[in-house]
Amino acid sequence: MRSIAWLLPLVVVGASACSTPPPAPPPFQTTVNMKDLMLNVIDPAADGVWDAVGTVITMDGTFEKFPATDDEWAGVRSYAIQLAESGNLLMLPSRSNGSPEWIADAQALIAQSTRAIKSIEAKDKDALFTIGGDIYDACTSCHNKFIVPPAGTVKP
Ligand code: HEC
Repeated sequence: MRSIAWLLPLVVVGASACSTPPPAPPPFQTTVNMKDLMLNVIDPAADGVWDAVGTVITMDGTFEKFPATDDEWAGVRSYAIQLAESGNLLMLPSRSNGSPEWIADAQALIAQSTRAIKSIEAKDKDALFTIGGDIYDACTSCHNKFIVPPAGTVKP
């Protein structure tokens, strides 16, 4: 009997811990619509990554373009970080509406941008070029599913 009297308060404490409601989500406050987020945050960051490496064709010939100094590598790393973190902005409930497909595409953007950061830290321009294509795939995967073509047009 004595042992039950000891157990009882423990059970009550356990039960009350389980029934505690989950904390309310932080008061996220999105300030712009999707179009503005794309044009002012995500697209400029992606351009910063894509423009860092590639081939430039001029009147004088064809040149390989890649960051040459530590400062230039730091610059492109900054764009890749912005892109990676912006995946979280896409996942905010008011933007994702809890759609698993949307969230998966936002996670793909984070995953590819994180690979980009690693390739930048390794100063691996070839990997960065390839990953740039993978980032593009993450963009188009979401666009193909969620951008509704204007009425009367045909999706390319
Ligand atoms: C999780 C979904 C999602 C991902 C990932 C995503 N986008 Fe978007 N994007 C959208 C939606 C939705 C729109 C349409 C916004 C609107 O006009 O309401 C859009 C529109 C755009 C536009 C057109 C804006 C305009 O002029 O109307 C650009 C440019 C763009 N995205 C760039 C990108 C780039 C670059 C990436 C990847 C680095 C990317 N997006 C990743 C959902 C996404």
